[in-house]
This record gives sequence, C-alpha cells and structure tokens, in this order.
Amino acid sequence: MANTTAGAVRGLSQKFICSKHVLSASPGVGLYSLRTKSMSSKALQYAKLPSLPVPKLNQTLEQYIRTVKPLLTKDEFAVTEQVAKNFGAPGGVGEKLQLMLEEKGAKEPNWLSEWWLDSAYLSYRLPVLVHSNPALVFPKQNFLSKKEHLAYAAKLIVGALRYKAIIDSGKLEQDYLGKSPLDMSQYTKVFNGCRIPGLKTDTIRHALDSNHIIVIHNNQFYKVVVYGENGQILDDRDILNGLTCVTQKYNGPSAGVGFLTTECRNVWGIAHKELNKDPVNRASLQAIEDSIFVMCLDKSSKIEDNATVSTRMALQLLHGYGAENNSGNRWFDKTLQLIVSEDGVNGLCYEHSPTEGPPIANLADFIVNYAQEKTLRDDERHLTPHCERLTFNLTSALDEAVMLAKRNVDQLVQDVQMNSFSFDKFGKEDIKALKLSPDSFIQIAIQMAFIRLHGHPAAHYESASTRRFHGGRTETIRSCLPEIVNFANIHLKQNLSPHEKFKALQSAVNAHKGYVGMAINGQAIDRHLLGLKRLAIEGGIDIPSLFLDPGYSTSNNWRLSTSQVAAVNDMVMCYGPVTPDGYGCCYNPRRDEINFAVSAFNSNPTTCAEKFGEALKKCLEEMRDVATSSILSSL
Ligand code: COA
Repeated sequence: MANTTAGAVRGLSQKFICSKHVLSASPGVGLYSLRTKSMSSKALQYAKLPSLPVPKLNQTLEQYIRTVKPLLTKDEFAVTEQVAKNFGAPGGVGEKLQLMLEEKGAKEPNWLSEWWLDSAYLSYRLPVLVHSNPALVFPKQNFLSKKEHLAYAAKLIVGALRYKAIIDSGKLEQDYLGKSPLDMSQYTKVFNGCRIPGLKTDTIRHALDSNHIIVIHNNQFYKVVVYGENGQILDDRDILNGLTCVTQKYNGPSAGVGFLTTECRNVWGIAHKELNKDPVNRASLQAIEDSIFVMCLDKSSKIEDNATVSTRMALQLLHGYGAENNSGNRWFDKTLQLIVSEDGVNGLCYEHSPTEGPPIANLADFIVNYAQEKTLRDDERHLTPHCERLTFNLTSALDEAVMLAKRNVDQLVQDVQMNSFSFDKFGKEDIKALKLSPDSFIQIAIQMAFIRLHGHPAAHYESASTRRFHGGRTETIRSCLPEIVNFANIHLKQNLSPHEKFKALQSAVNAHKGYVGMAINGQAIDRHLLGLKRLAIEGGIDIPSLFLDPGYSTSNNWRLSTSQVAAVNDMVMCYGPVTPDGYGCCYNPRRDEINFAVSAFNSNPTTCAEKFGEALKKCLEEMRDVATSSILSSL
C-alpha cells in the first residue's frame, strides 16, 4: 500500500471522549419532529477551543530519534540520528521550515486541517473499501421473517434520523476529555455527505438540505423520502412500508453502478465523469450523493469458509463479500452506510475523510439502543413514503468498467484475512485494578504479539484524538517505544523474576501513557513532521534529507495500525492493514472483556490474522500474570 498514513488514522475511541448523552434514544424525546437541515444552516454553539499548537523543533527531533531507534540497526540508527541533527542544526532548513510553520500556526486556528484531509484521505488513490473505510459491527440479530429484517432496518433508520435531529438542534451534549471540552464539528459532517472521486484527488460534497435516504437492495438504488409534509421524521412503521415497497418494486437486472465505488479512486473518477454526461445518470448520482445516508438491505452472504460468526460479520460489513454477495449493494463513498442483512448481520461502514470514529461510535450506540428499545406500532394508520428507483444508462465503456470493478473487488475480498474475537479472560476494570492504564496495557500486548510472531518490533500507529483543539482530528501515538520493546524482550527472552518483569512493564506503561499525553496535547511528532514536509514541497524547497532517509520511511511503515474504539454496546470496529505486510488491530475494551478485530492480507506470506490473534491473547494473559504475581509476592 502506497500511503502509509491514510488507513492508519482510522478507528474509534469514544469512551474516553465522554459524551454525556443525556438525551435518550427512546421515543418521546420530542426532538424527532425537527426537520433535518444541514449544519451549515444552524451552527452549533460549543466551547471555543485553542488553536492547534506547533511543537518545538528540537522536541520533535528528540522524540523522532527516540522512537526510530527500536526499528533500526545500530549503523542505520547512527545515520538517521545524524540526518536528524543536521536537519535541526542552527540556521539549517529545519529552522527555516519551523519558522514558516509557526507563522502559519499563528494565523490559522488549525494549521494542519487541509493538509491532513488531503494527504490522509482525498489524494489517497487506493479503493476506500478495506483500505480506508472502517466498519462497525453491531450486535447480531436473528430475524425470523422478511418483515423482522425490514422492521429492524426501519428502526435503525429512524434512530439515525433522531440523532441527526439532535445534532441539528444544537442539543448534543458537549464532549469532554477529562475536563477539556472537545471540538464538536465532526458531528455536523456525518449526515448528507459524500466523497466524490476525482482524477487526481477527491472532493467532499455536503448537501445543504436533504429529505431522503438511499436504500440499496439487490444492487438497485432507491430514493426514499423520510420526512412527512410537516417536516417530521416519519414513524418507524411508515419507514417499514417504504422498505417493503423497495423490496417489492423491481426484480430486473442491476446496472451494478455500486461496484464502481469499490475501485481505485482514479479509475472511479474517470467512470464518474463519464456517468455524469448522461442526464438520467446525473440525476441518479445527485440523489445518491445528496442523500442523508444509505441503508443497505443485504442478502445472506454465501460463503464457504470456517470463519466464526463474528469474523464473518466483520467481513460482510467491511467489504460485502464480493460480487456474488453484497459488495455491489453499497455506495462506499457515502459518509454513512447502515447495513442490515437478512441473516441478522448489521452495522455500518463509513467513509473516513469527513469525520473520525468517535462521533460515529456515539451515533451507533444511540441507534442500537433505539432499535433495541423500540416496539413497532402495529396498526393500519400509516403512510407509505415516496419511494423511487434510480436508473442508470450505461455506455459499453461503463459496462466494462463495472465488469472490471467486479473482478477487482473479488480479488480484494479474497485478499483480506480477518480475525474478530472477544478476549474474555479479563477486561478494562481488571487492568485498572492492577493500577495500569488499560489502553497502554493493550498497546504493549499488541507490540509484544508482533515481536513474538515475527522476532522483531514493528512501527506501530495508534490514533490519539486532538479534538481539544479547534478542528482537531488525530495525532499518531508511536507505540513502538524503547521501553515497550525492552519489556517484550525481557519477558519473551529472559528468565527474570515476576517483580523485575513487572517493573519493566510499569516502565513501558508509563512511557506509553507519557506519549499519549503528548499526542492529545498536540505535542507529538508525526503531524508536525508532515507540516514541515508540506511546507518544503509547497515552498519549492528541496525535500530535506530527513524525509528521504530510510529511517524516516521505516518509522512510517505502520505494520501495526491500531486504534481503540470504545463503544458501550457489544460492538467492534474493523479495518484493513495499511501496509501489505501489516496488521490492522482495532479493539473495544469493555468492563470484563476486550473485543478485537485483527486483519491482514493473504497475499503476504509472513502475516496471519489468526496467529496474531492467538499471540495477542497469550501476551495479554501473560502480562496480567506478571502483574498479579508481582503484586501477590510483595504482599
Ligand atoms: N490505574 C487505574 N486506572 C487507570 C490508570 C491507572 N494507572 N490509567 C488509566 N486508568 C483509567 C482511566 O482513568 C480511565 O478510567 P475510566 O474508565 O473511569 O474513564 C480508564 O482507565 C481508561 O484510560 P486509558 O486506558 O488510560 O485510556 P484512555 O481512555 O485515556 O484512552 C486513547 C487513550 C489514546 C485511546 C485516547 O486518549 C484517545 O485519544 N482516543 C481517541 C482515539 C481516536 O480519536 N480515534 C479515532 C481515530 S479515527
């Protein structure tokens, strides 16, 4: 995979971002009658936040040298260290770029926003599915009839519309990190948005006002109006009628246009341009792109493998299991796609560029609660919403593009390994009882699992939120820290007492926690280095050797792309690896268990999601044993 940062920024962790959603999902909250307008028509009034800071150059270079060390040989490290020192030398190019960045930082509330959006997302050319879009698996349902399937989908739709109404009314509770209020702007981007493919770079389209969703069924697209004449959100029962109407409307062949959204962005950009030449296609595309969100009504996937139910759920939500299954029953560019399959698999898949995971995870908790609490009214007083099938006229070139997209998506689907499981030996509370940070503990276990399997450490990305700052998104926590590698080596290779091992574990936890502190305070290094590099490129300055040094690329080759996604419900987020020889690893630390989704690529002979999961479980248990034996022996 060419881009090493794009996919690595995904993942959610909304638990610590403690939104106190006092507004219940239950009916009667009274907000659902609000007509949903785009947020640009009703700005949210939240805390005024500080600008994103520019870290000091010497601080960044010190941390860079520290974090690159475990990944390089002695000789390589000596070169990289010298290159970094030269970069930071008085009067050198580093100082010049730093000055330019500080000037930009003094003028703009968030000097990073546009660069990040562009380099992490919009200029990224691989398909968004697997490589960028995360999926969130909701609790499995068991539908006994078609009606139950559609009724559950209707409840998720209404739950999502109610959440949108709360956002639009400005009544969503302020999110906090500790005592710090967080930037809330991402919430305004979840609905009405769509990524539009371009030939070199994509754009984001955000409809100002929209009154319909798109329902996809049998790869056909339907526009379904979800508000009544007075602007009220239609009742679940009415939406159920709309979904029933969709499933009965048409049984003919599909043009398969949804497959185009699975393509590399340049390829899809060309096809999109071609599609737009025809007025019928243009109207259909506009209806999809300007919709509030998408609901995918999936058929049961026919799969022959030995995967567990949770792994299958993750894969179906991530990629739809290929052309014969549900990969064409999608519009992967849409910011929010809810998915409900007739076999009870349900969840969402979202396009990452406008928003980070936490708003999406909060939405998911809200709508799952709503769907589980709500009983459908069973009377005859109901409406059937306006529901219209969207059609496409495909030229032979576009037909061919769809055929090719089907072949390509099948190849990609074949390549993805997933291992989704619940580690049930202990959860977050047990780790807290050991007086250790649960997140740091899990991160150390992930790095140690890699070392255990591969014999050496790996560049390790964890997402940290920078929403304490205006327009803040993420920073990288470099979890491959010397103290973490030291603990793993001591534990795996040396016969030391539990007490000595525990001391090394505590030091690893403290080092990780320290890095988290820097990252969430805008003082870590990866976005800073990106800013300096972008300034050099834009200023026509020769790319400094720091960025051409192999040590730099090694430390950015995120073989471990990880993220905490804490949700209240029994859910887990999943995404693909961001390097061909890497792993994606997302987790939801719950009270008494930890949900994991580990991914890898089949095409790489050295990685295996199954083995990684086993190694991870072992590391978690052994680390807990190290801590408990040491604590017990000191009593
Ligand atoms: N002893 C006892 N308890 C401890 C502890 C210790 N030494 N250290 C931490 N804890 C507690 C915390 O107080 C907290 O308690 P709570 O459950 O009552 O709230 C809990 O353990 C969890 O803390 P911790 O595991 O340290 O992590 P965190 O919740 O602070 O999360 C990050 C760490 C990096 C995940 C978080 O800072 C973050 O940035 N998340 C957002 C990521 C993001 O935006 N992802 C989106 C990318 S798309």
